[in-house]
Amino acid sequence: MHEQGKVKALIVFGTRPEAIKMCPVVKEFRTRSRIDTKVCVTGQHREMLDQVLTLFDVVPDYDLDIMQQEQSLFDITSRTLTGMQNVLADCKPDIVLVHGDTTTAFATSLAALYMQIPVGHVEAGLRTHNIYSPFPEEYNRQAISLVAKYHFSPTQMARYNLRLEGRASETIYVTGNTGIDALKTTVRPEFHSDIIEWGKGSRLLVMTAHRRENIGDPMRSMFRAVRRVLEKYEDVKLVYPIHKNPVVRKIAYEMLSDHPRIRLIEPMEVDEFHNLINAAYFILTDSGGIQEEAPSLGKPVLVMRDTTERPEGLDAGTLRLVGTDEQIIFYACRQLLDDPDEYQKMSTARNPYGDGTASMRIADVIEKML
Ligand code: UD1
Ligand code: UDP
Repeated sequence: MHEQGKVKALIVFGTRPEAIKMCPVVKEFRTRSRIDTKVCVTGQHREMLDQVLTLFDVVPDYDLDIMQQEQSLFDITSRTLTGMQNVLADCKPDIVLVHGDTTTAFATSLAALYMQIPVGHVEAGLRTHNIYSPFPEEYNRQAISLVAKYHFSPTQMARYNLRLEGRASETIYVTGNTGIDALKTTVRPEFHSDIIEWGKGSRLLVMTAHRRENIGDPMRSMFRAVRRVLEKYEDVKLVYPIHKNPVVRKIAYEMLSDHPRIRLIEPMEVDEFHNLINAAYFILTDSGGIQEEAPSLGKPVLVMRDTTERPEGLDAGTLRLVGTDEQIIFYACRQLLDDPDEYQKMSTARNPYGDGTASMRIADVIEKML
């Protein structure tokens, strides 16, 4: 049933990073009297999604529960597409909001297109222009831009990318990144955790690695590099909260579990993780979201990918693209550990991703749909 004088907005997400960046939107929408907010999760992730929902206290109205162990892109796409057909038919939203570049977001936008329901795309306009890097995310986000009616871009650069692809100026809103809205609520100087305690007195590195295109040889090469770093520097420790993907876990445990200064741990609650990176010396990652968070915290990041859709962090000086080659990663780590000037250059806190009010700006636009 539609409530009189309200826009019915269905917010859909399925993975950890989408949840971290969409829960602030859900929270904001729920404060608005002119928006009737419904939440659907696909469950593309299970434990890693539920962790975030619990922390932000968001209870979904719909849960497709699609996750399977070692699921393929075909599994995620087909299960989301057919699942969303039923949800959209039941919910009848005025607008569907999706986030970023996951297969949940892509398949949901396709379902909305098939039912001719307008789509709002949060974190719109990021590009590498290389369809295989990151894979399949670059395709997903380009495809979503084709169907979206409202593009919520985190930066002017993202807006520019959309303009180059012919999206009309009045459909693009530069809002900042909703991930910064989340970060504003989690980082606290007095935050205490056992793992931060364990790192005290050392130079603590934090690593995450999960990308599909890195699984196999590139990941092995990344892990060999960090092992060499740990062997060379006795004052360095490393924490790696491992993604739940069993293939990633197998490689990580095989290669890194027996080192006394490496801690392989379970995926962390987002507030714990944000405070951990705030306590880190530097970060090694192939993640997207962490590239946005680190510039705010002034933490150098070595990005273990060949491309990035986040050039703002490169411009801010916080990120350095190092690819997945063992030797290049090893030398980049050495430079940060040996050269105080280089370390200093990459450690200045700058935030290219907005002032933490992106969700409010998005809600303002949705209210005006009335
Ligand atoms: C997905 C997104 C990627 C995003 C990442 C964030 C796609 C194609 N990829 O990749 O863009 O960067 O999420 O982490 O949308 N698993 C669990 N429990 C969980 C989560 C995952 O067991 O809570 C395992 C399952 O075996 C699953 C596998 O991890 O099959 C991979 O998950 P999947 O969502 O397919 O891919 P990600 O690499 O997580
Ligand atoms: N993160 C988390 N716990 C962890 C590792 C990461 O909460 O153990 C957060 C991190 O701060 C960021 C998001 O998860 O907000 C990034 O998710 P991920 O790396 O899975 O996906 P990507 O951003 O690459 O799509």
